[in-house]
Amino acid sequence: MNALWSDMVKRTEPYTPGEHVNGEEWIKLNTNENPYPPSPRVFEALQQELTSNLRKYPESDPKELRNTLAELHQVSADQVFIGNGSDEVLAFSFMAFFSPGKPIVYPAVTYSFYPTYAALFNISYDTIPLQEDFTLDEKALYKSEGGVIFPNPNAPTGIALPLAGVERIVSENQGRIVIVDEAYVDFCSETAIPLLERFDNLLIIRTMSKSRSLAGLRIGYAIGSTEMIEALNRIKNSFNSYTIDRLALAAGVASVNDKDYFGDTIQAIIQTREQAKKIFESLGFTVLPSAANFLFVHHPEIPAKQLHKSLKYKQILVRHFSKPETEEWLRVTIGSDDEMKQFFEKLFELVRMWTDKSSAY
Ligand SMILES: Cc1ncc(COP(=O)(O)O)c(C=O)c1O
Repeated sequence: MNALWSDMVKRTEPYTPGEHVNGEEWIKLNTNENPYPPSPRVFEALQQELTSNLRKYPESDPKELRNTLAELHQVSADQVFIGNGSDEVLAFSFMAFFSPGKPIVYPAVTYSFYPTYAALFNISYDTIPLQEDFTLDEKALYKSEGGVIFPNPNAPTGIALPLAGVERIVSENQGRIVIVDEAYVDFCSETAIPLLERFDNLLIIRTMSKSRSLAGLRIGYAIGSTEMIEALNRIKNSFNSYTIDRLALAAGVASVNDKDYFGDTIQAIIQTREQAKKIFESLGFTVLPSAANFLFVHHPEIPAKQLHKSLKYKQILVRHFSKPETEEWLRVTIGSDDEMKQFFEKLFELVRMWTDKSSAY
């Protein structure tokens, strides 16, 4: 630690993103990316933008994308805020709605960027243990002093809380903000957007990284009351007016406008996920019920850390979290059918090797 660092830097605990590898030989199932390319319309829009407009700044208030998202979600355009990936929207939200000295609450097993933002912005927090079956302890989220944040479906478990549960959490926290991080909601769970008509303390955060295959362009957004969106704009415009570049804006609009492609790729991923769940179970794994584009899996005999290492040796990346609550589990992103076939071939060999070895003793 350097004496010249600010207090803010000294207290940071930076987030560690999933490992990045280059090369066709790797099967990358560790960061919940979409295995399919973005809609073909995205490529047309990018080409158009590349040839005509790159010398100009993007709009600081991206109206076209806001209008497109407002129409998609049946809200008004001034209820939409767009940021550079939902990580940025989350960071701005921590700054805009949570205050030092007023502890927020979130689940003990959840998206590991939340503690990072809390440390960065000096926000204290209480974590709520999950229940034995890894579902959220809804009632423990009813009372907060400084606000609540949780992903729905949760990450890395993939388990979704039904809308009625989200509604109870929002309703019990009147006067405090409840942020629902819907990064994975498109993979078949209920959105909390309809609650916005009745609750002004709810903020929903979405991303185009997962369901729209645009992780590389960084587009996230928030939907909430106009006052909340104004707060986010105040933060953004005190930080960087142009957080979303022209290519991302063009791609975002084109992606939303291709509803058929979106529906088809989501269905393909859900189908692969359900097949993968069955295969995992046939190999002796416990698999949590997932409403996301990943599965959280545990093998009763093979230590998860070891399995992660052995898969990596075979050029397959999955995610292992070393916290005590999750160290016996692996999070596996749903890849294409071909990637999953190769993954299961390797996994099958490893499970067989391990079970043969243990039965030899
Ligand atoms: C729960 C959750 N929220 C937010 C994000 C961030 O997504 P983005 O790519 O939009 O920054 C992730 C990414 O893994 C996530 O798992």
